[in-house]
Amino acid sequence: MDLVSAEDINQKIEVFEASHAVAGRLLTLVERDDIGAREVATLVSADPILVSRIMRMANSAFYGTGGRVRELHAGVAMLGFEAVKSLALASFVEGSGTVTPQDWDHSITSAVAAAEVARTIGADQQQAFSLALLHDIGEAVIASLDPSFHEVLDSRRSMPLTADAESEMLASERKRYGLHHAAIGADMLASWNFHPDLVQAVAQHHTPKGSLSRTHAALVDGDRIAHIIACGSTLAEIRDLPGILLPNYVGDTQLETVLTNVRARSASMIADLF
Ligand SMILES: [Fe+2]
Ligand SMILES: [Fe+2]
Repeated sequence: MDLVSAEDINQKIEVFEASHAVAGRLLTLVERDDIGAREVATLVSADPILVSRIMRMANSAFYGTGGRVRELHAGVAMLGFEAVKSLALASFVEGSGTVTPQDWDHSITSAVAAAEVARTIGADQQQAFSLALLHDIGEAVIASLDPSFHEVLDSRRSMPLTADAESEMLASERKRYGLHHAAIGADMLASWNFHPDLVQAVAQHHTPKGSLSRTHAALVDGDRIAHIIACGSTLAEIRDLPGILLPNYVGDTQLETVLTNVRARSASMIADLF
């Protein structure tokens, strides 16, 4: 298999940017301070898949609305603009046929886990949720250029993120594609004008260094917790997992509560969404 060049990757990012009018317009719109939920809803209403995803998510048990959100603008207000933006971006990457059901499972579980960690450590839950939804978008770019990458992703999802597994994964991507998925995802978010702190959090979600912002810490742990849930690790194994931050701040009981909440809330959101 030929190497995928950095040029191929940049072209792909440009294609993703240009390929979806709603997501593109939404990105510009939600940067404005004077924007309202009705204006966002009007734009989103042009994309039926996105509308259904927003309404299902707003009515999922995670938000505790009891299925009472009936109008699109109310759904947009419930999720927040950042989450709507992340859903739009994830949906249009999915529209290119490069996102598998396992990828959505991982994105949703990471997002729910990042929000739960954010709540525990006092970070912005909505921001952590939205960022975690998109954190592995670089994998979708690679998969769109190299179909054999889907097999790599399938085996990766059920592995614990040990330090060795992570450095091997990033090194093999760098060797094969010139950049690893975290760097590609960060380039993508930068080209979509995400805040530099969020771009840095995605760039370093496998290689956190120095003191992290709270949102970055929530993303790192959210990703790890999603892997822990997928591979059924025990509490003792979680405490020993390198790179995970939450066990340094909470006791076993609270850690168990976080895992129980994430398991239940992500499963119900996935069931509601798909
Ligand atoms: Fe990743
Ligand atoms: Fe991930």
